[in-house]
Amino acid sequence: IELYLGALGGVLPAHPFGYAELESAAMAVLPPELRTYVAGGSGDEATQRANVEAFGRYAVVPRMLRASAERDLSVEVFGRTLSSPLMMAPVGVLGICSPDQHGDVHAAEASAATGVPLIGSTLMSDPLEDVVAATGDTPAWFQLYTPKNRDLAASLVRRAEQAGYEAIVITLDTWVPGWRPRDLASGNFPQLRAKCLANYTSDPVFQEMTGPDPDPGTVVMTWVGTFGHPVTWEDLPWLRSLTDLPILVKGICHPDDARRALDEGVDGIYCSNHGGRQANGGGSALDWLPDVVAAVDHRAPVVFDSGVRSGADVVKALAVGADLVALGRPYAFALALGGVPGLTHLLRSFQAETDLIMAVDGYPTRADLGPDAIRRTDR
Ligand code: FNR
Repeated sequence: IELYLGALGGVLPAHPFGYAELESAAMAVLPPELRTYVAGGSGDEATQRANVEAFGRYAVVPRMLRASAERDLSVEVFGRTLSSPLMMAPVGVLGICSPDQHGDVHAAEASAATGVPLIGSTLMSDPLEDVVAATGDTPAWFQLYTPKNRDLAASLVRRAEQAGYEAIVITLDTWVPGWRPRDLASGNFPQLRAKCLANYTSDPVFQEMTGPDPDPGTVVMTWVGTFGHPVTWEDLPWLRSLTDLPILVKGICHPDDARRALDEGVDGIYCSNHGGRQANGGGSALDWLPDVVAAVDHRAPVVFDSGVRSGADVVKALAVGADLVALGRPYAFALALGGVPGLTHLLRSFQAETDLIMAVDGYPTRADLGPDAIRRTDR
């Protein structure tokens, strides 16, 4: 009502409310290399589209006459209470989503303003210490691209722990670049511009690898030499030994992988297909989520991303069984278009829409929002 009253008084909102408007504004005004990098996916982008379309196969079942005037969207995870089940997924090279190249710090500022935690990517434009310092009281997690060099991996994890990140997310599906025609066509691989390598250039182990005062070419080629390590089951005990922080594995889509990862000491499962940016031809991540949730069987939190575009999608992912739902492309575009106010607006809009659907459809708490709250409409 506040927003409508504001509009009556002539104060119209400065930022778009729906993802369609956000994306078309992004396509109209952002520089091409930013557009293709954020919007693009692998192959003909069928998996990327499938991620979004999958949400259309579920319907939230309205229930009336329930006491939903007061809602509680909070969720407990790793000893912290979050006011809503939303997160910002790791987005590498987020720095370029700000004209001043400090997109990672600005996302952290929006995290502090909204309570929506950020998962900081390894590929930041500012050192991980500076980013977590801007998150205020909101917890932040660190996403690790596991380098070939184990000392470098250990150093990054140690720094993240010391700086105050509260969990480590190990991404499993990105040890090779995906086949991304939009970026291939324009030779656009922003990682090769030294801008997103601040976590490396600020790292003592990496500095030993480059020698003192390296030129940008040396930095990039040294980074390329660290890239390309596929994490396997054999690596998990070593990764586990690096930190006492909770560890999540990102990219899990098969129930057996989820079960085994938990058996091997992992603390959380992150179901995702990287937004269809890595392997095409894989179907939607949402279609894998029910089996992953069943395999986890409440032993650990389940985070979900890939294709979330609205509060309705958040409600559906929660009802399927995710504990936390992460945004990717929408927040990168919101930051690129509207800076900290634009991103804050997007995160609050997701919170508000999620909350209102739970209000109108009669599911006042997370506990009410189980599998009975949704129906497949295609069966
Ligand atoms: C990503 N993603 C990603 N994931 C990760 O673990 N580390 C990273 O550095 C990145 N980088 C990255 C950059 C950009 C521009 C995008 C769009 C995505 C994947 C991300 O965490 C998430 O899985 C997807 O964004 C989810 O898909 P949607 O909802 O954005 O389509």
